[in-house]
Amino acid sequence: MAKVTIDGIEIEVEDGTTILQAARKIGGSVVPPAMCYYGPLKGSGGKCRVCLVKVTQGSAKDTRPMPKLVASCITQVQDGMVVENTTNEEVLNARKGIVEMLLINHPLDCPICDQAGECSLQDLSYEHGVSATRYEEERRSFNKVDLGPYIQLHMTRCILCYRCVYTADQITPERVHGVLGRGDAAEIGTYIENVIDNDFSGNVIDVCPVGALTDKTWRFKNRVWFTKPMDAHRDCPTCSGKVTLWARGEEVLRVTARKDQYNEVEEFICNTCRFDKKEMNDWTIEGPRHIDRQSVISANHYELPVINVPIVPNLPTSTKKNLPQH
Ligand code: SF4
Ligand code: FES
Repeated sequence: MAKVTIDGIEIEVEDGTTILQAARKIGGSVVPPAMCYYGPLKGSGGKCRVCLVKVTQGSAKDTRPMPKLVASCITQVQDGMVVENTTNEEVLNARKGIVEMLLINHPLDCPICDQAGECSLQDLSYEHGVSATRYEEERRSFNKVDLGPYIQLHMTRCILCYRCVYTADQITPERVHGVLGRGDAAEIGTYIENVIDNDFSGNVIDVCPVGALTDKTWRFKNRVWFTKPMDAHRDCPTCSGKVTLWARGEEVLRVTARKDQYNEVEEFICNTCRFDKKEMNDWTIEGPRHIDRQSVISANHYELPVINVPIVPNLPTSTKKNLPQH
């Protein structure tokens, strides 16, 4: 076991835990943002650098600080390590710079982007970005690419996090896309627009932190904050059949996997559940999906609060006697 202190809060975690995972155990504002790390995907992380933190003490044995900021998603804790995230000015400044860099080529088309309202880059720029850009050179631009019948790629929005590549590698039988080129020529390529055609390909949409990979059956249908997310399930021979339905009235507009508070998929779902089951009676509804209060999706989204109200209030005994008896 190793003891680590993050933003003044101490926690004991198993050896081999990364700083990001340790911070998630604490929760709240000490958790660094993550655009490329994705818990369910092996090898993810280390690409976007938004999770940088300052290690002010390497370990109990070697108390020197680490000379540079480190990516918390791939740096393992050491016993006695002291880490600063939101309490360190250098970290906050670096994060500002990274957001500015990620936005260099990213179009500001949130008003027409289907990911608006659930985009990690939108949240990140809101929390850490600056309102102006210093970039004056020409931006990269790409045509939209159809990845089969259900998925569309807007390469201009891609931040090259590699999550979709790992997803296709790890949960589908074959991968026909990947990152081609290097530096500012890098792009998600599909070799002569090969179709991603297998039962689990739709999951690349869920893992994409921005609006680069979108669901063609949902595109431009609605804004996500006008929909009602509900947990639902069906008997599915291919996957667990546990999903979130995004409905407006009785119309199911979109089906996605269920995601946790860090936007990570709880269980990957198959394409039949995602694209072909758009009738309310295809599903057993479990109830409203919990949405964080800070999320724009929580607007107009009501969940019944669980309140433990005593059936008979704590009144003086004399008053209780006068209550009707059932
Ligand atoms: S398309 Fe999306 S998931 Fe794939 S690398 Fe780009 S940003 Fe990441
Ligand atoms: S989340 Fe750590 S580098 Fe991207």
